[in-house]
Amino acid sequence: MKVALYVFSGTGNTLKVAALYKKYLNADVTVYRVSEKSGKAPSPEGFDLIGVGYPIHAFCAPEPIIKFVKNLPAVAYRRAFVFKTSGEGLHVNDRSSQKLIKILTKKGYDVTMERHVVMPYNMIYRHSDAMAKQMWIYAKAFVKLSCGELESFKRENVKLPFYRHPFMPLIGWVEQRFAHLHGPLFKVDKNKCIDCGKCVAACPENNIEKVDGKFKFGHKCVLCMGCSFGCPMNAVNVGVFRFWKVNGSYRLEELAKDENIEFPLVPNLAKGIYRLYKKYYREVNEMLEEANIDIGEFV
Ligand SMILES: Cc1cc2nc3c(=O)[nH]c(=O)nc-3n(C[C@H](O)[C@H](O)[C@H](O)COP(=O)(O)O)c2cc1C
Repeated sequence: MKVALYVFSGTGNTLKVAALYKKYLNADVTVYRVSEKSGKAPSPEGFDLIGVGYPIHAFCAPEPIIKFVKNLPAVAYRRAFVFKTSGEGLHVNDRSSQKLIKILTKKGYDVTMERHVVMPYNMIYRHSDAMAKQMWIYAKAFVKLSCGELESFKRENVKLPFYRHPFMPLIGWVEQRFAHLHGPLFKVDKNKCIDCGKCVAACPENNIEKVDGKFKFGHKCVLCMGCSFGCPMNAVNVGVFRFWKVNGSYRLEELAKDENIEFPLVPNLAKGIYRLYKKYYREVNEMLEEANIDIGEFV
């Protein structure tokens, strides 16, 4: 089986999940990053299955992945699935894929499955090491399970009834319009900056330029946070979102192997904000149990 995964990712979480699909699918998998910097995308014509991956932004799919899917060629028939990552597994995030699924279906793609993989926040607040460890271990098990389901041609209803979370698209629309307006408020602190250019390289929208020795941010920002999350000096000021900034990658593989970090955190010790994750992990645990997948294999 030949599989193409088309992935938008600001800070790498969705790409990490795409890498898990590549690892666990018994198939020849090509991962294409949706970015202004990437070359031409491979045509879906050469593949048996396509996957579309994105991070949830304000309960919706970000603009670049919508634009990309709108530009995919129509096909006579092609099996497809959607995977999305987000900082929490609340069902309020469920509507995010509906627009993509609608566009894909109109173009002849048969979307048979979608999966929501919870990964550490790249905005709002930094997840604790224990929570990040839990998220990564579960992401591996959950993706492995969904690879088996894709290989056995499992089909699920991916359409959400119109009355479930109907106002979420409006929130996403406002967020993306605001992101464009707000873009030029991003700034680089020249006292911290070491001029490594990582922010420019990370921006999938080519929104950062160096003009007269200064970094200039334009109006194409989609708030993916790639520039500020990956800055080794924490030098990028993200305007009105500065109190929600998260800087620096989570060392997911190291955390997963660290025996001194308790696991699982949820549901055993879920306190405070982490109570919000109980339902998601209960549902994932039920699916893993049904498929006889032991989470212990991934620790
Ligand atoms: C602007 C913005 C909005 C976000 N909105 C949500 C949201 O509505 N719900 C959620 O659970 N996570 C939200 N997140 C968290 C991301 O979805 C999550 O960290 C994701 O895994 C990032 O993926 P990436 O590294 O591939 O960009 C948001 C992140 C950003 C930057």
